[in-house]
Amino acid sequence: MTRVWSRRYAKRTLRMTSSAIRELLKVTEQPDVISFAGGLPAPEAFPVEEIAEAAQRILRDDGPRALQYSATEGYRPLREWVAAEMRAANVPASIEQVLITTGSQQALDLVGKVFVDPGDELVVETPTYLAALQAFTPYGAQYLSAPSDAHGIRTDAVEPLFARRPKLLYTVPTFQNPSGATLSAARRARLVEMAAAHGIPIVEDEPYRELRFQGRHLSRLISLEARRRGDSSDYRGGVLYASTFSKVLSPGMRVGYVVAPAEVIVKLVQAKQSADLNTATFNQMLVYELAVSGAIERNTKKVARLYAERRDAMLAALREHFPDGASWTQPDGGMFLWVTLPEDIDASELLEEAIAQHVAFVPGAPFHPNGGGANTLRLNFSNAAPERIHEGIARLGRALHARFPSAVPA
Ligand SMILES: Cc1ncc(COP(=O)(O)O)c(C=O)c1O
Repeated sequence: MTRVWSRRYAKRTLRMTSSAIRELLKVTEQPDVISFAGGLPAPEAFPVEEIAEAAQRILRDDGPRALQYSATEGYRPLREWVAAEMRAANVPASIEQVLITTGSQQALDLVGKVFVDPGDELVVETPTYLAALQAFTPYGAQYLSAPSDAHGIRTDAVEPLFARRPKLLYTVPTFQNPSGATLSAARRARLVEMAAAHGIPIVEDEPYRELRFQGRHLSRLISLEARRRGDSSDYRGGVLYASTFSKVLSPGMRVGYVVAPAEVIVKLVQAKQSADLNTATFNQMLVYELAVSGAIERNTKKVARLYAERRDAMLAALREHFPDGASWTQPDGGMFLWVTLPEDIDASELLEEAIAQHVAFVPGAPFHPNGGGANTLRLNFSNAAPERIHEGIARLGRALHARFPSAVPA
């Protein structure tokens, strides 16, 4: 790199890092590697035919509009559709409370841009979603880590952190990435109540909600907040909700959304204008068309069945091939599960051996912004067929025994 550029990077770029996962994905692209590292949905579940038909219809009936710039706030019918979904979840929203974003990842970046000043403290659960850290860190965020367990973020640990008056709390309450854990109903109620009492906003990131394999849906935090406030129209609560069509339709489409009080949407829109002017018009129209035709709902059911089978395959393989000292989460949905190895095993050392055995995963440490988690790892189960999952976990079991013979008796 020539010095003419390298001497001129803004200070915030020093805080930008490449995602450990993206780097790892480069290694795992060879076909003989079984990768549990990425977070890729199953491509065989993309409803390609239905998307092709909808695309043709849109281009035939409304082509010039689909190919034109459009409002930063998003395609109006899609905003209306999202608002109706939110009203069905007891959040009194209209299009004024809805912004369409370029994936929910953009929502996180916009939240960083709008709310985070250098040195601001954000409460996050540990482990937390890595790309949320990547979104917030360049704006100078510092993190207050609250531990989580099988029932999500530990609200008893959040309370003292709220006393430090953090800027906001960020959480993925449902089938969390990376842990697969879901925040219990009792903790949801407690978290919303506590945040309101302390006046701390919550950013609720919920891309996996609809990928539920078993059990009943739990109320969104934003629904609990709306109920607590009793707003009859124009949601004005302290929870900002982000979600996406990536996991139920297609991640390549890059369509997500935010639901928040209208005044917050106005600020996010200003921040989005300079980022990309608008989310691809054509893609928004496609998503809308597939939402109203019922294609997304049908596809979601299909995806959930497929992933449930893969989760079961992974759980069975773990029981068969992993040692007694290891434990793992049993997610009711989503795409990930989380493994805790015996204390003295370093997952990044295990990864070296795993790559040699042609299997990959993501070590857990980077999901902990304030350190820790060296003996943990994330496994993705959505992107490999059950036989590959069995073979991959068997290889990982062999890697464990090969690298840590004393910690892991055969
Ligand atoms: C917790 C969480 N939030 C946000 C995203 C971003 O999703 P997208 O930008 O595709 O909507 C992901 C994707 O993996 C995620 O796991």
